[in-house]
Amino acid sequence: MISNINIAEAMTVKLENILPEMPEFVAGIRRASNRGFTINVKDTEVALKNALRYIPGKFHKTLAPEFLEELKSRGRIYGYRFRPPGKIYGKPVDKYRGSCLAGKAFQVMIDNNLDFDIALYPYELVTYGETGQVCQNWMQYRLIKKYLEVLTEDQTLVVESGHPLGLFKSHPDAPRVINTNGLMVGIFDNQEEWHRAMQLGVANYGQMTAGGWMYIGPQGIVHGTFNTILNAGRMKLGIGKDEDMQGHLFVSSGLGGMSGAQAKSVEIAGGVGIIAEVDYSRIKTRHEQGWVSKISIDLDEVFKMAQEYLDRKEPVSIAYYGNIVDLLEYAVKNNMFIELLSDQTSCHAPYDGGYCPQGLSFKERTEMLSKDHDRLVKLVNQSLRKHFEMVRILVDRGTYFFDYGNSFMKAVFDAGVTEICKNGVDTHEGFIFPSYVEDIMGPLLFDYGYGPFRWVCLSGKHDDLEKTDHAAMSCIDPSRRSQDRDNYIWIRDAEKHSLVVGTQARILYQDAKGRVKIALKFNEMVRNGEIGPIMIGRDHHDTGGTDSPFRETSNIKDGSNIMADMATQCFAGNAARGMSLVTLHNGGGVGIGKAINGGFGLVLDGSRHVDEVIRSALSWDVMGGVARRAWARCPNSIEVSIESNKKSKDNHITIPYIVDDALVKNLVSKEFNRE
Ligand SMILES: NC(=O)c1ccc[n+]([C@@H]2O[C@H](COP(=O)([O-])OP(=O)(O)OC[C@H]3O[C@@H](n4cnc5c(N)ncnc54)[C@H](O)[C@@H]3O)[C@@H](O)[C@H]2O)c1
Repeated sequence: MISNINIAEAMTVKLENILPEMPEFVAGIRRASNRGFTINVKDTEVALKNALRYIPGKFHKTLAPEFLEELKSRGRIYGYRFRPPGKIYGKPVDKYRGSCLAGKAFQVMIDNNLDFDIALYPYELVTYGETGQVCQNWMQYRLIKKYLEVLTEDQTLVVESGHPLGLFKSHPDAPRVINTNGLMVGIFDNQEEWHRAMQLGVANYGQMTAGGWMYIGPQGIVHGTFNTILNAGRMKLGIGKDEDMQGHLFVSSGLGGMSGAQAKSVEIAGGVGIIAEVDYSRIKTRHEQGWVSKISIDLDEVFKMAQEYLDRKEPVSIAYYGNIVDLLEYAVKNNMFIELLSDQTSCHAPYDGGYCPQGLSFKERTEMLSKDHDRLVKLVNQSLRKHFEMVRILVDRGTYFFDYGNSFMKAVFDAGVTEICKNGVDTHEGFIFPSYVEDIMGPLLFDYGYGPFRWVCLSGKHDDLEKTDHAAMSCIDPSRRSQDRDNYIWIRDAEKHSLVVGTQARILYQDAKGRVKIALKFNEMVRNGEIGPIMIGRDHHDTGGTDSPFRETSNIKDGSNIMADMATQCFAGNAARGMSLVTLHNGGGVGIGKAINGGFGLVLDGSRHVDEVIRSALSWDVMGGVARRAWARCPNSIEVSIESNKKSKDNHITIPYIVDDALVKNLVSKEFNRE
């Protein structure tokens, strides 16, 4: 009979044989709401056994009731007692223990994701997007760190939904960590099954860079949001290629993890922004960070203030403390013209607290979430229907509305509004309003390969960040394309906009060529001792890493938008080419079963070997996506693929022949009419 003594003896990497004190919860730090305890007696037993299996047997009697209480009151077992006391933040890399640089570098990234200044609900390991966690519980956090401390260049750490499965022999050119989150078997790949699996403690919702350990604070999303708003203005408001959003109005909702970037971005783009937010604590955070300039609870005042700035053609961002539906109703009733409109409530999880229904305060919705979930669902649906109605009226009056990748349109559809579908019945042909990727990010950025390249200066030195900013700028030719010009201006002014929260990090949209050039330059600087080691990566909201028909791949029109081959190939290809960290997740920003997305991290240690990884893996990471987009007949990707086939000695892309639309249309219509 195997005993717990045998088991403890069989492991050298394990949690310590002491029971930590329950840490104090710092007042004022946001806490995740109760996710709902819905599992039956048998499953509850399994959930407790699952959580206790991390912990030496002699503590089970004490911990079992504590974990049961967490499950009942929080809807999951976080193992709060195992959270290390005090402040968690990304420290300089040499402050971490480790047997290889990558092992230490990942600890910087993980801790940065859990920093009080960065994470949405740090005690619940949620980095952003309401439910996106680094791992499921604090036992996993501790164990992952212990593994990272001993990980060598000949091993790979396997992490499955936050659980460190173990270290396995590999080789120096293999990834040091392979990390998957929430991947479910087809017929179980839905919200209900996931909710059960999450309570059992076998599924982590990694979002993208939360479980992918590559979040760099709200800055990560500011550049993309800036690009989106500016290009929306260019496409729909007639703003010139070298002009900004001066004198133009953008309205949206949400000042949370990612949505918090909207206010800052619209100001950087030179425009006027009004952002509705129901949670005052988030408004306060963004205001203190200087990411939103004005706050008001009074809609008369909000619109008056906005008009003054529009007239003066000066940038400003205004937080409206209230519900977006109230704001839109006000705009409809008072004939306020909104030029650009979007929404960034967490509609990927509308019934789990992501969407606050009209008529409830944030506090009331939080209480109702645990006490009367059925009623909350009814109110959310009612509010979404009203929300849609207001958007439709405004669009009829000339507003350009776009879905901001938060599954707003899908949530409206789920609330019973079939009119939101193009075919009036189901979602197969998409929705009547475009998503920001379908209209803007997809064709103008992703199809060319432009995506959210980012880096973290692992030394923690601001000086390194400044040097890398300058180096990156020197790699961009602003006259090549308008995108390059925007990116050049972005990096030139990045320091001025004080974007850093947490580690010394930077985001800079770049295409394949740009990313490779900049990464090689950085690696050379590390080699020459000009800067300390760098972690490069990206978020998953990119050209090739994500299959997400309601978002990243919403401009894929050959039917393959429902396939997840590209994201899977991207992940596998990155692993094969030696990225330090490779990740693959279910859900991302749109919800379980609606996307598969992958990311990576690469530690630039200055070696020649890393130069080779940059040349092969970094260019594959982008060009795999461009090639697939070209095959789906996206014109800008075809253009980039033709150029690549002409110039590249190493890659060769299959390019689709153009088919005459009229030929196919006539043939098919004749055939169908005959029937
Ligand atoms: N910024 C981007 O580029 C981007 C890209 C893709 C997807 N998204 C999606 O946007 C959504 C928001 O992401 P996040 O990280 O900011 O989430 P979050 O949960 O941190 O923030 C959402 C905010 O909306 C507020 N809110 C909810 N209902 C409201 C209502 N009716 N009126 C006003 N405010 C309301 C919440 O209080 C919260 O602060 C997610 O679904 C995410 O996946 C964002």
